Amino acid sequence: MSRLEGYDNPQGVDYEELDNYVLAHIDPEPDLLKKLNRDTYVKIMRPRMLSGHLQGRILKMFVRMIRPRRVLELGTFTGYSALCIAEGLPEDGIVYTIDINDELEEFTTSFFEQSPCRDKIKYLLGNALATIPAINETFDLIFIDADKREYLEYYHAVFDKVNQGGFIIADNTLWDGKVIENVNPSDEQTVGVERFNNFVAQDERVETVIIPLRDGMTILRKK
Ligand SMILES: C[S@@+](CC[C@H](N)C(=O)[O-])C[C@H]1O[C@@H](n2cnc3c(N)ncnc32)[C@H](O)[C@@H]1O
Repeated sequence: MSRLEGYDNPQGVDYEELDNYVLAHIDPEPDLLKKLNRDTYVKIMRPRMLSGHLQGRILKMFVRMIRPRRVLELGTFTGYSALCIAEGLPEDGIVYTIDINDELEEFTTSFFEQSPCRDKIKYLLGNALATIPAINETFDLIFIDADKREYLEYYHAVFDKVNQGGFIIADNTLWDGKVIENVNPSDEQTVGVERFNNFVAQDERVETVIIPLRDGMTILRKK
């Protein structure tokens, strides 16, 4: 199980082996996602941004549980999480996914086109903050996974588009454990994640939990 450095491990648990055990006892990664994972690592800069097998299956399971018809994702990257969300959606479900980096378009589109879920994905290129107001939909689920510096701005931008009882999931909210260190003001990403965490913790419009999975995932339910 991926853990934050510095946590006690008195039993000497082999977390790498436990990670492998988890992957061997959950739904397998579909072949298209295996290929996307491999190709992203071979051809694309900063491949570690991709969600991966465990987080992808968890996203799909969240979609099964929440049963949204409209989902918005901020931060497509190479499309791994969008494909997992789409897999969990009903036939008439749609996931809108936004990314600012148009250099990823050809690569990402080629994978969307190979997926049986391709008709459920609307891929939008542009800055999320400029694109969100132009989407004429409200959402049952929003997945925030773009620029950590702007998490709070994304939250404000999407809030009115979340249906009552709907969910916002924000990824990487423990940010490698940096949120519990003395934050260097010039570390804009950690500052951005902290601003978001502090704001949502006192926002009475939402119920809030953090799942300490991977890099931390905050789940918010709009009351
Ligand atoms: C962590 S990656 C997303 C990973 C993807 N959700 C997955 O799980 O495979 C973050 C992405 O956010 C995009 N991004 C950064 N700032 C953005 C913005 N202002 N608007 C839209 N996308 C942005 C980056 O180009 C990058 O591809």
